Amino acid sequence: MPPSSHPSVYITRMIPESGVASLARAGMAVRMFPLARNPEPADLLAEASHHDGFITQVGDRIDRPFLKRAAPRCKIVANCAVGTDNIDLKAAAELGVVVTNTPDVLTEATADLTLALLLAAARRLGEAERVVRAGAWRGWGMLDFLGADVHGRTLGIVGAGRIGTAVARRARGFDMALLYCGRNRHAKIEQLGARRVLLYELLENSDFVSLHAPLTPETRHMIDAKAFSHFKAGAILINASRGSLVDQVEMIEALRNGRLAAAGLDVYEKEPAVPSELLAMENVVLLPHIGSATVSARDRMAEMAAANILAVLGGKGPVNPVS
Ligand code: GLV
Repeated sequence: MPPSSHPSVYITRMIPESGVASLARAGMAVRMFPLARNPEPADLLAEASHHDGFITQVGDRIDRPFLKRAAPRCKIVANCAVGTDNIDLKAAAELGVVVTNTPDVLTEATADLTLALLLAAARRLGEAERVVRAGAWRGWGMLDFLGADVHGRTLGIVGAGRIGTAVARRARGFDMALLYCGRNRHAKIEQLGARRVLLYELLENSDFVSLHAPLTPETRHMIDAKAFSHFKAGAILINASRGSLVDQVEMIEALRNGRLAAAGLDVYEKEPAVPSELLAMENVVLLPHIGSATVSARDRMAEMAAANILAVLGGKGPVNPVS
């Protein structure tokens, strides 16, 4: 790529136009991965040394080799997501590349989707819809599609940050009792009536468990075989955060042996791969990582990523730094 007098920003996958437009208005040379597929690590590596900033997404692996090659020129990687587990933050810090994310603007959309998953898993919406679409519905039946009550049951929220707290607020509207666990006490979720307990106590006492922790080396597989042995028999697991919080193999076993009655999943360990065992299970609601996928949330995420690029390449501090 020829050197340019304008700062160059590379966008790894299409983002909403509002973000691109604000970069172009500020005189940035904006380039985008040109193919009708997502970039592979080798595609990203090929671009690494040619740009002053990158706008990335959760499927882009921004690892040490990429950052090493990028760092002499690149000042910022602006991830269009609240999670940054796709980025080697330690390498970025060592190499002087600022990393930013898009907090807050996707909180409510992701909490809405979490409730949608919870309701869909409890009331067997996916399975029931498949029957209607297949033309196999034979009419109202007293014993058909019996699911679990949501109102009056206990919801355990693992990770009481912004999204977990927004989920708690919605769950109150369903008259759910609330437990939460997290590294620290959170006044906001406690004001909603949530009681803080340790993880296993939460699992033992929750009818629904919803995960909202960031993925870090400490939280990876926090829901493992041992944790599943602490779930109430017939509990429902909801995950709209990161697939690797859960040991997927153990989750499949828990769904098979009835420890879990159902699951609502928006995320997986090796996206976009979804294990064939899950695809074959009627009691699992499977979504393609769409927690923040509303028009306004995605617009605001793109604008926020662009604002971070403009700030850092303009010589100011980032708006949403991730340390
Ligand atoms: C999406 O998964 C995000 O982290 O924003």
